[in-house]
Amino acid sequence: MSLARLKKFVTTMTRIADNASDDDTWLRAARPVLGELVAVDDWLPDAYAAPDKQYYRQYLLHCDPLERFSVVSFVWGPGQFTPIHDHTVWGLIGMLRGEEISTPYRAGKDGGIDISGEPTRLVPGQVEALSPREGDIHQVKNAFDDRVSISIHVYGGNIGAVRRHVFQADGTIKQFISGYSNGAVPNLWDQSLAA
Ligand code: FE2
Repeated sequence: MSLARLKKFVTTMTRIADNASDDDTWLRAARPVLGELVAVDDWLPDAYAAPDKQYYRQYLLHCDPLERFSVVSFVWGPGQFTPIHDHTVWGLIGMLRGEEISTPYRAGKDGGIDISGEPTRLVPGQVEALSPREGDIHQVKNAFDDRVSISIHVYGGNIGAVRRHVFQADGTIKQFISGYSNGAVPNLWDQSLAA
């Protein structure tokens, strides 16, 4: 297990953060860097790969001190899935282990929420981008009912502290802040610096 890969990723991302002026620049520059990180599955410590019986887990791996980006390991237990949600900041999802399925949604004319495209199935090494400008509402699930899947997420902010939304089938929109699943491990980033 080698944290050197994660450290190199964080260092490169910090250099990108010093120069990225907008979401498109970020996504273009960061996508291949995340692709390199998830190309090899030998570095994620077991503590950040542990599933929960009931809920999917979001472990914070790193948050930029200026909250320009954060890195999370997203751990799916068998059959687990998210509600339909948005992010409000750009995001990159790199599949590390197992597979996951993302279904895109958009606000419907009648006040409901509609599927807006074909589901995407991510396999290890693959990277998907999310941009609020192009619509970033989706529902994600573990593609497997009998094993754990893990993806590495990068977002354009301190995602655990970002105020965002969950969409229900009847059109109800609820605000939420996801937090992180790091449990008893002290975490400087549970709240935004701006909060
Ligand atoms: Fe998401």
